[in-house]
Formats: sequence, C-alpha cells, structure tokens
Amino acid sequence: MEINLCIPAIPARVSPIVIETGLAAALGQHLKRVAQGRELFWVWDARVWELWQRRVACLNWPGLASERLLLFDATEVNKRLAKVEELARQLVRAGADRMSFLVAVGGGGTGDVAGFLASIFMRGIPHVHLPTTLLAQVDSSVGGKTGVDLPEGKNLLGTFQQAQAVYIDPQFLETLSDEQFTQGMAEVIKMAMLGDGDLWSYLETNSSRILNREATALEHIIAASCRLKAQVVEADERESGLRRILNLGHTVGHALERLSDYRILHGNAVAMGMLAATRLAVCLGLVADGVFGRLVALLEVYGLPTRIVGDYSPEAIVEALKTDKKQLAGKLHFIVPTDIGSVVQRHDLDLAALNEVLDDLRDR
Ligand SMILES: NC(=O)c1ccc[n+]([C@@H]2O[C@H](COP(=O)([O-])OP(=O)(O)OC[C@H]3O[C@@H](n4cnc5c(N)ncnc54)[C@H](O)[C@@H]3O)[C@@H](O)[C@H]2O)c1
Ligand SMILES: [Zn+2]
Repeated sequence: MEINLCIPAIPARVSPIVIETGLAAALGQHLKRVAQGRELFWVWDARVWELWQRRVACLNWPGLASERLLLFDATEVNKRLAKVEELARQLVRAGADRMSFLVAVGGGGTGDVAGFLASIFMRGIPHVHLPTTLLAQVDSSVGGKTGVDLPEGKNLLGTFQQAQAVYIDPQFLETLSDEQFTQGMAEVIKMAMLGDGDLWSYLETNSSRILNREATALEHIIAASCRLKAQVVEADERESGLRRILNLGHTVGHALERLSDYRILHGNAVAMGMLAATRLAVCLGLVADGVFGRLVALLEVYGLPTRIVGDYSPEAIVEALKTDKKQLAGKLHFIVPTDIGSVVQRHDLDLAALNEVLDDLRDR
C-alpha cells in the first residue's frame, strides 16, 4: 500500500509512504531507486540493531557496511544537540559528504535526531525513515518535523525536512514491548477521534486482532493513521492552522507529562488529555455524552488510562498548560471533539469548566 504525501511548497516532489508487512525484504530496491546513486549512511536505534541485525544481514541492503552504520541509543536524554554533533562527526569520519543520503531506522527519537542531522549536515542531505515503533509508524515518521530537546523543554530546536520516503514494515513491531505498543495505540485512537470515524469503528470491532498484532490489522490502522496525517500535513505543513488538530489530547497531556517530570508516558498522557478534552466538550454542549463513554471504553480495551492518574490538582495542571509552547499568545488553545471523527479548535476556553472537568476525572 502506498500513500503519497505532496507538500505544495515542494512542488516537484512526492514523498511516498509505503506500508507493507515484509517490506524489509524489498527495501534494497526501494533504497537504490530513492537514493539515485548517492552513497547511503545509516543511523540505527542501537536496540533495534541488536535485535534485528541478524535478520537483515541476508537482505543485501546497500551500504550497511560497519563504517557507514551509526548507532543511536534512543533515550530522551540522548535527544540533544551534543548527540547530533557526535553523529555528524562520525559521518564525516566515515566519508559522508553533501552528496550522501541518510537512512534512519528506529522509533520517533531516532527519526527526530537523524532527520535533524540530515537537515543540517553540509546544509542538508536527503533522508528516508524506517520507523520501528507503533508511534513512529502511525505518527512521527510522517510530516517532516525533526528536532532535539533543550534542558528547558522538549523539541525546542528543530527543522522541517520531509523524508524522501517512509518505509513501514509492521513486522518490526514483533519485538516491541507491550508497553511501547500501548503508547502507540493512544496516537491511533487520537487520529480516529479527530478525523476518521471508520478507523474508530475498526478499533472497536477488531481489538483482539490488533492486540494480537495480526499483520492485516496492523497494516489497516497504520495506513488509516498515515493517510489522515498526510492529508493534514499537506494542507498545513508548518502548523499555522489545521495541523494543530493533531494536538488533540496533547494540551492537558503535555501538562501532565511536564508535571510528572516525564514519568507519565506520552501515550498515557495523551489518553488522559483526550479524556479531559472530550469531557470538556460534553460540558460545553459540543458533543454527546455517549462519545465520552465510547472513548473510555476504547481506552480501557487498549490498556490506556481512563482517569487522570497521579495526584495533580486541577490548578497545577492549568498552571502547567499555560507555559506550553503550543499555547498561543497567552490564550488557552484547545482541540475538542464534536463527534467521533471530527474536532474543532477553541480559544475561548472557560477555565472554571476546565477545572471542574479535571477535578471530576481525578482518580481518587
Ligand atoms: N517528529 C514528530 O512529528 C514526532 C511526533 C511524535 C513524537 N515524536 C518524538 O518521538 C519520540 C518518541 O518516539 P517513540 O515512542 O517511537 O520512542 P523511541 O524512539 O524513544 O523508542 C522507544 C523505545 O523502543 C525501542 N524500540 C524501537 N523500536 C523497537 C523495536 N522494533 N523493537 C524493540 N524495541 C524497539 C527503542 O530502543 C526505545 O527504547 C519522542 O522523542 C517524541 O518527541 C516526534
Ligand atoms: Zn503525541
């Protein structure tokens, strides 16, 4: 299955997102075509390399010689500028130049760092991404955001560089932990809620197939998520308007992550954020109460939180979300559902209503 991402600002280029179980076997040909004679250099998530090197050894992927293979230990602490410099120096020492081509293999952390590196190395070289976590396959690999963290906050340094192509093989998810898989499911549920009612119904009726990681079920949810994300990004690459809808659940979600000093995992935080946004929409009369009930049921099936866990007062959460970089000009900016599969952006938020919702959702 192939989805074509076309950014109007880059008119001559289409970035294919290829989704296929077993795609890895044909990756060599894909890479030769996309790299057009450029020499390939690889940035692998070190853990993924450890788990998969034997299985990919026989696939004849071009350029996977040890001197052109860089390993990245994918932790959030390593998503730093210093790491990018280290990798860039390794690239130079391995013989890379401005005609080189980078292949990133790993989750969102590796994709963000390798994509950032590609976008600034010798003023920019092209890259592709093979995402290996569910989160990266349904979300971060599509859309061209790259970047690293600062001690002051996450993703504060970055660029937009669309990958030349994204190659998604759901087989990589075989070795992903249940915890990481669950975190990725939060983003799939978010995608369904914000723009794809059919995907939502599929998630409701195919949960055991998805949780058993059946290939066709995974392909279905990955393709639906990528299709929707590509559509949104095509309409608004630089997040000047529409793209903000992808932040459904992330307003309160980011606040909870920061309050917990990132002990609350991202997917769990997004799930709690979606609960808050949906409950708020119910209170404002924007969405039927039944939608909130269906959200709770779906989150439960996929092992995500159905209450706001952690002992955070509504006041502390509101304080934390006021300092979010995504909040514009001091106004609280919220994405709220109006139905399953549709959302609106609201800037006129009633703080009292939000406080009440956050209090109601506390896990006491
Ligand atoms: N660029 C974007 O648009 C965007 C969007 C969302 C998130 N992100 C970023 O993505 C990062 C999170 O990405 P993530 O959730 O993919 O996590 P990650 O890249 O940090 O990987 C999570 C863990 O899974 C391991 N792993 C990866 N693939 C595996 C596999 N197939 N089998 C076994 N283990 C595997 C990694 O080694 C790591 O320990 C964050 O830094 C976030 O800021 C970026
Ligand atoms: Zn997210």
